[in-house]
Amino acid sequence: MRLDNRIALITGAGRGIGRAIAEAYGREGAKVAVADLTLETAQETVAAIEQAGGTAIALEMDVTNESAVDVNVNYVVKQWGGLDIAIANAGIQHIDPVHKLAYSDWRKVMNVHLDGAFLVTRAALKHMYDSGGGTMLYMGSVHSLEASPLKSPYVAAKHGMLGLCRAVAKEGAEHGVRSNIICPGFVRTPLVDKQIPEQARELGISEEEVISKVMLKNTVDGEFTTLEDVAELAVHLAAFPSAALTGQSIVVSHGWHMQ
Ligand SMILES: NC(=O)c1ccc[n+]([C@@H]2O[C@H](COP(=O)([O-])OP(=O)(O)OC[C@H]3O[C@@H](n4cnc5c(N)ncnc54)[C@H](O)[C@@H]3O)[C@@H](O)[C@H]2O)c1
Repeated sequence: MRLDNRIALITGAGRGIGRAIAEAYGREGAKVAVADLTLETAQETVAAIEQAGGTAIALEMDVTNESAVDVNVNYVVKQWGGLDIAIANAGIQHIDPVHKLAYSDWRKVMNVHLDGAFLVTRAALKHMYDSGGGTMLYMGSVHSLEASPLKSPYVAAKHGMLGLCRAVAKEGAEHGVRSNIICPGFVRTPLVDKQIPEQARELGISEEEVISKVMLKNTVDGEFTTLEDVAELAVHLAAFPSAALTGQSIVVSHGWHMQ
């Protein structure tokens, strides 16, 4: 198994991409701390991991709550004796053009993605530095590298996470910490399903057209990226054996974005 006995914490892992990564990590032998807003959703992922023979614990952890992040990360380290991998995955979306965007909505999106990624990083690095190393992974997006209309706070936050990932790669190197950011195209999760009717309304087109003319238009094959695609990349990045792969943004988007 590629992640035998590694200790991993994944935020927003109660559903969607985070859950798919948590389950893949469980199958690859990692002990997985599944963090989400509610204990119930986190427990659903834990149950699936345990059913498949893996080891996991559920954490109720809002990534925007400084003390909750510190307490939960410390708890994982105390339970299992360390922390090898931390994934800042929790995220939300908000659809609005910039000129109509409420400041509160801007702040909410920035808060979950960027402040949340910072808090998780700071809490994790303390332990990784003490134990001689680890892997930070960030769930960026194609929107870490380019923009789409109606998503300004998301685009700004995802670009910010790319910057944080690179800064951590530079600072973490002397402590044995690698840092990379995964940049998926569109994946069918609740986050994407919710924005299809919202975009259709805002753009005055049908939901089918949002999918074909907005979301998948620039892919090479008109296909959504899958949960399995993203989870496989997250396993690969965590299992990579050296610091040759650090500070990188890896795009998994059916060719929507080529860098
Ligand atoms: N689905 C896509 O097409 C896509 C593409 C690129 C990047 N992403 C990114 O992948 C990540 C996961 O997205 P998803 O599509 O699985 O979405 P999702 O809505 O299915 O899951 C997001 C999870 O994050 C949790 N969450 C939200 N706010 C939180 C907070 N403050 N603290 C802790 N947990 C919180 C939610 O409860 C949920 O379980 C996000 O960062 C998203 O931006 C998604």
